[in-house]
Amino acid sequence: MSGDPRVVVVTGASSGIGRATALRAAEGGDHVVLVSRGAGVLEDVARECRASGAASALVAPTDVGDDQAVAALFDQVRSAYPHVDAVVNAAGVVAYGRTEDVDADVFEGVLRTNLIGSINVSRYAVRLFRQQGSGTLVLTGSLIGHIAVPSMSPYVLSKWGVRALARQLQVENRDAKGVHVSYVAPGGVDTPIYEQAATYDGYLGRPPPPVASPEKVARIILRQLEHPRQRVQVNLSNHVIRFGFSALPRVYDLLVEPLFRVAAMDVTKPIAPTTGNVLAAREDGNQLRGSQGNPLAGIARNLAAKVKAGTKDAA
Ligand SMILES: NC(=O)c1ccc[n+]([C@@H]2O[C@H](COP(=O)([O-])OP(=O)(O)OC[C@H]3O[C@@H](n4cnc5c(N)ncnc54)[C@H](OP(=O)(O)O)[C@@H]3O)[C@@H](O)[C@H]2O)c1
Repeated sequence: MSGDPRVVVVTGASSGIGRATALRAAEGGDHVVLVSRGAGVLEDVARECRASGAASALVAPTDVGDDQAVAALFDQVRSAYPHVDAVVNAAGVVAYGRTEDVDADVFEGVLRTNLIGSINVSRYAVRLFRQQGSGTLVLTGSLIGHIAVPSMSPYVLSKWGVRALARQLQVENRDAKGVHVSYVAPGGVDTPIYEQAATYDGYLGRPPPPVASPEKVARIILRQLEHPRQRVQVNLSNHVIRFGFSALPRVYDLLVEPLFRVAAMDVTKPIAPTTGNVLAAREDGNQLRGSQGNPLAGIARNLAAKVKAGTKDAA
């Protein structure tokens, strides 16, 4: 890699993992291209990036689910910079609910952003990298792309698809030695995605422990630009859960529902069905970190609520 600042395109740059990735790239002096649907928060992030040392920060509001919009994004980037070093796709949305309960438009909306969005971004990134002869694409998957859980049907399907896409691209691009495709799969990360989610389950989710910071995931994502790896799990606990899912399916199926309700939901605050940010950005909720606090305290509150409900039932 030359001594010139790198050009790094980050989708999902207004919040959570994407925002942390953009800020860390900025701290390293890179040019950053900031992508999400909402433009307002991206302007704030651009200011933060410039103040942190970015060579430049380009705000490029784009819906990754829209192929033509992604084509226009890459045209814009190509006319602004002679070479693009990396594209990090961290745009994502969540919906909670069983397959039959999630409204069709929200189900499609999750697949559209998470899976079709990953395909759209990959299409133009890989085309460009192959023309340049170099470049790294990082696709953000999830532990959920390796397992099944109660109540996250569209998200599970989208993330299994992202994992398949990454493997497919790795096979397809074996001939292009300078082109790399990395798949990074976090477990629980402290970001607003849980509070921004659509839900048809009566409750919102929360990141299950061990919870990583968005900055930790950003470090691992940016490491792929210098030392690309095909597959990276963020937090060793992912391997344990994946092993249980694959090797001990009966035990897994027995335990996943009660453990999910206690560790990955907030059952203390019932909420009415909501489409969250799946169909349109909710810019007010986009932040670097989530605001659900300590995960162990969350589990304790859930257990206390269950005991209280059990006591009431017995009375
Ligand atoms: N947080 C976790 O525990 C966790 C765990 C595993 C994997 N992940 C994955 O990590 C990635 C980042 O998640 P996060 O937790 O950082 O979420 P987040 O804080 O909610 O950020 C999501 C970002 O994606 C953008 N976005 C949503 N839909 C978009 C679209 N159609 N086009 C362009 N941008 C869009 C949002 O901005 P706008 O709303 O303005 O578009 C926002 O900038 C996602 O792929 C998620 O599935 C997260």
